[in-house]
Amino acid sequence: MTADDTPEILLIRQTRPDVAERLSHRFRLHRLEEAPDRDAFLSEIGPRIRGLAVGAMSPIDAALFERLPNLEIVSSFGVGYDTIDVREAARRGIVVTHTPDVLSDEVADLALGLLLATVRRIPQADRYLREGRWRQASFPLTTSLRERKAGILGLGRIGRAIATRLEAFGVSVAYHGRTPQDVGYAYHDSLIGLAQASDILIVAAPAGPDTKGIVDAAVLDALGPDGIVINIARGSLIDEAALTAALQAGTILGAGLDVFENEPHVPDALAALDNTVLLPHVGSGSHYTRAAMGRLLTDNLFAWFEGRAPLTPVPETPGLRAR
Ligand code: 8YV
Repeated sequence: MTADDTPEILLIRQTRPDVAERLSHRFRLHRLEEAPDRDAFLSEIGPRIRGLAVGAMSPIDAALFERLPNLEIVSSFGVGYDTIDVREAARRGIVVTHTPDVLSDEVADLALGLLLATVRRIPQADRYLREGRWRQASFPLTTSLRERKAGILGLGRIGRAIATRLEAFGVSVAYHGRTPQDVGYAYHDSLIGLAQASDILIVAAPAGPDTKGIVDAAVLDALGPDGIVINIARGSLIDEAALTAALQAGTILGAGLDVFENEPHVPDALAALDNTVLLPHVGSGSHYTRAAMGRLLTDNLFAWFEGRAPLTPVPETPGLRAR
């Protein structure tokens, strides 16, 4: 490949050194965040850009595509791609890839950790010890995972990985999603039905217009006063104001949240509550898994620019091949 036909790739919110290092061997890289004047930068390099390497949660929309008329592929770092306008990408013949599977076990591990932390009040017990209060009295007894019924919203790759872990913990599993699957767990065709039958609700479905705010006041009410909500998906699936109100009123028991509506901003009201465990969106955040995600992001670009099919395209842009 001569210098002239080396594909040019734009990095957007993609700062992993190993990703840049791998890509730099085959492509000419540009970094949007380093440009002092992004508009002038896009005018200058936009027409030459054939691929994007982007961090998950980066807004990739029609206005950006307009600046990149020769864009062929968007390779995103993460399984969720709700901030990418995939319909517009499909319309323009741009393939979008993401990083499924390689993070499912890590996120499922975190979901179980968050569930245990919430039910057994592990962070609160840690704080109790550090504050020297154990010397005065034992930590109060907690609720239990025993005899609980978990309902999983979204039995995709991550949902199934959570389900197998729950089984190992002796917790019964049911689920709700668009369609019943060939699995041994009870299916509920409505989220309310699932919430009524459960006292743990684990949110593991993709974000999008169809799922925005679907965990609302009525669902929380159906979950009931022993109810625990765990969210490792996206904040937008839960009506955060309704959740906060339910936690304050005690109409549900607690919540363990790794994701929020307006990250990295977390409402003070949620943080002020003692029946919440709150994490800064760390589901996939281990060295091991983030490195695997970085490799898959780069492998998708390598496949594409070698004229092969992308490894993990999103379903909305399937089977598109290099032009
Ligand atoms: C992000 C995620 O990749 O995969 C997803 O959808 O939300 C995470 O794994 C992570 O926050 C890095 O941006």
